[in-house]
Formats: sequence, structure tokens, C-alpha cells
Amino acid sequence: MKVDQYHIPVLLNDATQALISDPSGFYVDVTFGGGGHSRAILDQIDNGKLLAFDQDADASLNHITDDRFSLVRQNFRNIQNVLEAFGHGVPVGILAVTDFHWLDKTLEIFKTYWRLLDMVFLLAS
Ligand SMILES: C[S@@+](CC[C@H](N)C(=O)[O-])C[C@H]1O[C@@H](n2cnc3c(N)ncnc32)[C@H](O)[C@@H]1O
Repeated sequence: MKVDQYHIPVLLNDATQALISDPSGFYVDVTFGGGGHSRAILDQIDNGKLLAFDQDADASLNHITDDRFSLVRQNFRNIQNVLEAFGHGVPVGILAVTDFHWLDKTLEIFKTYWRLLDMVFLLAS
């Protein structure tokens, strides 16, 4: 799907405020989709880096041309391997836009980082 066929990104300002603590840091958006959240993150990091995941081939239609940005077509369950392959350390923040149906699964995938990251949950109705 092209960017204009995705839903309007939810809680854009709240999400970036909660996520970004260091504008020079390394961040990950694991549900890139139309890229709305990734664009908002890039707007607020200076010389930071952003790596995005989306398992759906269509998401690449929304790729962002920016030296600070990379998009990988991967399930984010592979996050640890991908970060190692890219030579990244632990991210400052990871954004996952998910629904209640997938919340348990998402948390399970991130259990590797459970002790390293603060988790902030923002709920949109
Ligand atoms: C709700 S959309 C994300 C919207 C996006 N934040 C935006 O601003 O447009 C969810 C996206 O996450 C992707 N996705 C869902 N589960 C995934 C997974 N386990 N690994 C990688 N991508 C996933 C879907 O393909 C979809 O494009």
C-alpha cells in the first residue's frame, strides 16, 4: 500500500515525545507501514539514526530517502539478528504500533530488551 492508503498515524506527537530522549541516538520503528511515525521521528532527531522494519513488501513503496534512515523487509521478531548484522548497538528507543490482538506477541518478541528499555504504552481508541 502506498502511504496515502495507510491509516492516519496514531498519537504521532505523544509517541515521538515518549520515544526520543536523545536526538543523536539510534531508534527503531518496527512497524513502518506508511512511514508516518518514521517521518515524525526523523523530524525530531538531528544526527541520530532510524532503522525501520516491515515484513510487507508494499511498505517499501513508502521508503524515505534520508541518509539517517534504513528500511528492512523483515519480521521484527528478527530484530536482534538484524541489529547485529547492521552493526548497531542497543537502540535508545523502539516504536511498535500494534493493537491489543498482537500486544502479547509483540511483548514476547521484545523480551530480549525487557530489562534494558523502559516501556511506554500509549493507547488510542
Ligand atoms: C498499523 S501499520 C503501521 C503504521 C505506521 N506506523 C505508519 O505511520 O504508517 C502496521 C505495519 O506493521 C507491519 N507489521 C506488523 N507486524 C509486523 C511484524 N511482526 N514484523 C514486521 N512488520 C510488521 C505491517 O505490515 C504494517 O505495515
